[in-house]
Amino acid sequence: MKNIILVGFMGTGKSVVGKKLAAKLDKDFVELDDMIESKEKMAIKDIFEKKLEPYFRQVEKEAVKEAAKRKNVVISAGGGAVMDEENFKNLKNSGIIICLKASPDTILKRTKNLKTRPLLNVPDPKKQIEELLKKREPCYNKADFSINTDDLTIEQVAARAMDFIHIS
Ligand code: S3P
Repeated sequence: MKNIILVGFMGTGKSVVGKKLAAKLDKDFVELDDMIESKEKMAIKDIFEKKLEPYFRQVEKEAVKEAAKRKNVVISAGGGAVMDEENFKNLKNSGIIICLKASPDTILKRTKNLKTRPLLNVPDPKKQIEELLKKREPCYNKADFSINTDDLTIEQVAARAMDFIHIS
């Protein structure tokens, strides 16, 4: 069976839903951000702070290549990963891409206390979310299937993803 790849903005539930899907499908779960942190032996926020975003994106690209080579896994890709065309291609070739979506208000609520998200650690995170979403929307829309998670529980999102996986 193909890999399942979850993409979408920060705070849309990729990690929690991904873990649930992995359990349901009896696949291993791969979190790209965790791969990056262990490769670099540094937290994502420190990589952004000390080595800056272009370096992070380079390491992310390597992590995507490595993860996409694996078989029978559910991959949760960091929110910016699919903005890179080569990353999108590598992920697409390895399986089914499902995008989790949410409104800026939901994202703000879900990410509010998380200083671990360097891109949202700015004076006006709502504006930042809106601007990034607008820029990223066309890439997110290239996914095979999207789920709006605003009013759904983790279980409900996972169930919708499972329905799509079964008909794919
Ligand atoms: C990022 C999302 C984060 C992480 C990094 C950059 C982004 O992952 O990769 O902070 O550009 O949207 P999550 O979407 O898993 O929070």
